[in-house]
Amino acid sequence: MYFDTHAHYDDEQFDLDRDEVLASMPESGVSLIVCPASNLKSCRMVLDMAGKYPYVYAAVGVHPHDAKEMDDSSIDLIRDMAKNKKVVAIGEIGLDYHYNLSPRDIQKKRFYQQLELARELDLPVIIHEREACQDCMEIITQFKDLKGVVHCYSGSWETAVQILNMGWYISFTGAVTFKNAKKAPEVVSKMPLDRLMLETDSPYMAPVPLRGRRNDSRNLPYIAETIARLRGMTPREVAAITMENGKKFFGIK
Ligand code: NI
Repeated sequence: MYFDTHAHYDDEQFDLDRDEVLASMPESGVSLIVCPASNLKSCRMVLDMAGKYPYVYAAVGVHPHDAKEMDDSSIDLIRDMAKNKKVVAIGEIGLDYHYNLSPRDIQKKRFYQQLELARELDLPVIIHEREACQDCMEIITQFKDLKGVVHCYSGSWETAVQILNMGWYISFTGAVTFKNAKKAPEVVSKMPLDRLMLETDSPYMAPVPLRGRRNDSRNLPYIAETIARLRGMTPREVAAITMENGKKFFGIK
């Protein structure tokens, strides 16, 4: 059975068949899913889904894209929502200098505030970083006491070492299966297996041979096959160890 540690079922691409897709997961070999929120509206949606399906858990927080929509009361709203029993992390939070949909200084301010909230609530964090490696590392190294995962990792081995030395985790999407992927496969083959997690980042990042289509958690085996090949293991072993890692990271029994 697989654990999808990062899937956006609140996305509008699932508006027509969300329940059908989610209800099919256990019979398709997916027994746990964490849905990270992107903004305050999506926080409410992921909480609804987590309330409805026993195998769906939620992370609450605001993505760097939507950081500009936060005000100082937003942190109080996130704090309240985080009290829900199905909330296992604060996320996804971070910095995105590729799209710059929110000004950089605002992204940094809201990222920092949400890391402080995670510290206050003693919850793990799910980090999004795109083309903002230096600033992101500068901020997260001030939060070494937290448990964190850097999601959809495509950075260098050197940065991965810094993340791993903090005791943090790294998760991989279908991007690791792409023909032009170089850094992610290198990190997969060198990193300690007990810090690796699987995710789809659905509806994005569909693995080869489904690249470009709408993604969902049922495609995890394609990612596991690539990782298994890089590590000289079976996909079944990858599924088992990443299940164990995910449960430990998110504190799910
Ligand atoms: Ni995501």
